[in-house]
Amino acid sequence: MEPRSKNIVFHHGEIRREDRERLLGQRGCVLWFTGLSGSGKSTVGRAVERRLFELGHLVQVLDGDNVRHGLCKDLGFSAQDRSENIRRIAEVATLSVDAGLIVLTAFISPFRADRAQARAIIGTERFVEVFVDVPLAVCEARDPKGLYRKVRQGEIAEFTGISSPYEPPDAPELVLRTADLPLDASVGHVIEYLDRRALLRGTDGTTP
Ligand code: ADX
Repeated sequence: MEPRSKNIVFHHGEIRREDRERLLGQRGCVLWFTGLSGSGKSTVGRAVERRLFELGHLVQVLDGDNVRHGLCKDLGFSAQDRSENIRRIAEVATLSVDAGLIVLTAFISPFRADRAQARAIIGTERFVEVFVDVPLAVCEARDPKGLYRKVRQGEIAEFTGISSPYEPPDAPELVLRTADLPLDASVGHVIEYLDRRALLRGTDGTTP
């Protein structure tokens, strides 16, 4: 989408992203968690945040339920609103990546096209799609927020996995099957992946 105004000029600063990355000893990147409600996106995301913090990294968490209390509080759960939700998050995440941060996003982000757009906005080399792959029945049995019960009682419409679709990723960078995987193991997989991709070091190899 083109900006509405023609009278705006992009301004580049003197400090580059690489400089900030050297300062922080990490690469700006996004870990994009996707999966059904109750799959464990936020739980794994928070645990990864803690582990990275202990290793000296600066992490930002963007979480669906939280962001929908502020930046996206005008949006509901129609396909169109979900797309706009994801677009805004991708734009915010891009700003944070430019600041050198490791960003963890925990949104259902049910549509492939929206996740592809997020990848395009952020840049594929900085985008790590993490599919939290858990059967609907397991999510429903967990029902951490009591929402599935409400859905079955007919109190919530357009609920992902039941009355609104979830399109699983075709080629995610990581898959976490949290139904069979202890939390620690999920965290371990994510950290190992980031390390392998050299995202936990600055451009010149600096570590925190
Ligand atoms: S997304 O589809 O636009 O990516 P997002 O992750 O922001 O969704 O918000 C999902 C959270 O909102 C769920 O974890 C759940 O707590 C709550 N929620 C409320 N209504 C719905 C609904 N109709 N579908 C899915 N999640 C819902």
